[in-house]
Amino acid sequence: MPQANDIELEPRKFVAPEYIFGLNARHLATGYCKKLGAKKVMIVTDIGLQKTPWYIELKKSLNDKQINHIVFSNVSPNPRDEEVMLGTDMYQKENCNMLLALGGGSVIDCAKGIGIVATNKNPINKFEGIDKIKAPIPPLICIPTTAGASADVSQFAIINNNANRYKMAIISKALVPDVALIDPEVLLTMGQILTANTGMDALCHAFEAFVSNAASAFTNLFALEAISLLSENLVNSVYNSNDMQIKGKTMLASLYAGLAFSNASLGCTHSLAHSLGGYLDLPHGECNAILLPHVISYNFPFAADKYKIIASKMGINCNKKSSLTIKKLLVNRLITMKKDLNITNTLKDKGVNYDIIDTLSKKAILDPCNATNPRTPSEDDLKTIYLEAL
Ligand SMILES: [Fe+2]
Repeated sequence: MPQANDIELEPRKFVAPEYIFGLNARHLATGYCKKLGAKKVMIVTDIGLQKTPWYIELKKSLNDKQINHIVFSNVSPNPRDEEVMLGTDMYQKENCNMLLALGGGSVIDCAKGIGIVATNKNPINKFEGIDKIKAPIPPLICIPTTAGASADVSQFAIINNNANRYKMAIISKALVPDVALIDPEVLLTMGQILTANTGMDALCHAFEAFVSNAASAFTNLFALEAISLLSENLVNSVYNSNDMQIKGKTMLASLYAGLAFSNASLGCTHSLAHSLGGYLDLPHGECNAILLPHVISYNFPFAADKYKIIASKMGINCNKKSSLTIKKLLVNRLITMKKDLNITNTLKDKGVNYDIIDTLSKKAILDPCNATNPRTPSEDDLKTIYLEAL
């Protein structure tokens, strides 16, 4: 008979890249290029980031150290399959042998996509799903510029299938970067909306990893710490844009949430958000923020004890309260947090209507993130969640 304080003794694995967290970590990029054998590096970034000091100083330091490099910046938010193929053409024509991603989740996912196609010689949509990548990708160094996606530490890449208007989830150990240089200083150039949306993405990663069927003692540790840090600091991070301690705490929370979800995977919030964001080209973090409270209500009876622990981490007093009360308090806490972050849209506000919910649900049920949701959803369940979030 298992006891309350028993530990999990089933074998569990945990995969993480080498990562360096802290101020000036980004300046180690050129050293790592040399260490990893750079002959010609492709910097993957976007046109917005090319105006930031982080990009300018990175270029300067590569030039100073005489590291041969080119730049690919044709990356949109929600990176498209065509952009991956375009980047791969350039990578191969220029005989590159290394990728250096400077950006948020979209940029890093695009760099991973380029890496997959460059060594596996097939269009990117052939790698959709779990463990479809045969050959290792080229060395990949990441400097994340948002505190949310955590693609710099994860086994995930999300690429938009443009023709069919949905996001392909590509999941493989081959996608774990060689090194992540996680420097909170780069958050200083992030605007309020991006800070709020990406922060809610990180919170959602931690929530979904903690209640995941594949959660372990390791992932729980990181997920809960991420929830606690974001609960205390995310709103402040949006409104105190120069406070390095607060920025550092949200960056650390994003790292923790990334380590948790990369190993425990995600749940229905992400399968619904992937379908929605891919179909209407919407910001990923905002989709998650809208959907998360509704998914909690749907999942709650199947993971009540875990949500109770999450609620406590968010400062909710759960003593002598019923499950129903805790559910309401947790959902309300998230709604208040979203209001404070000025994330107030519903799905209707984002362009969703009854006519497309069938299409969205049909795509969402195929997403691999459903597999680890604590409650196995049917297509009708997903449709109901979309309707509730309208
Ligand atoms: Fe996400």
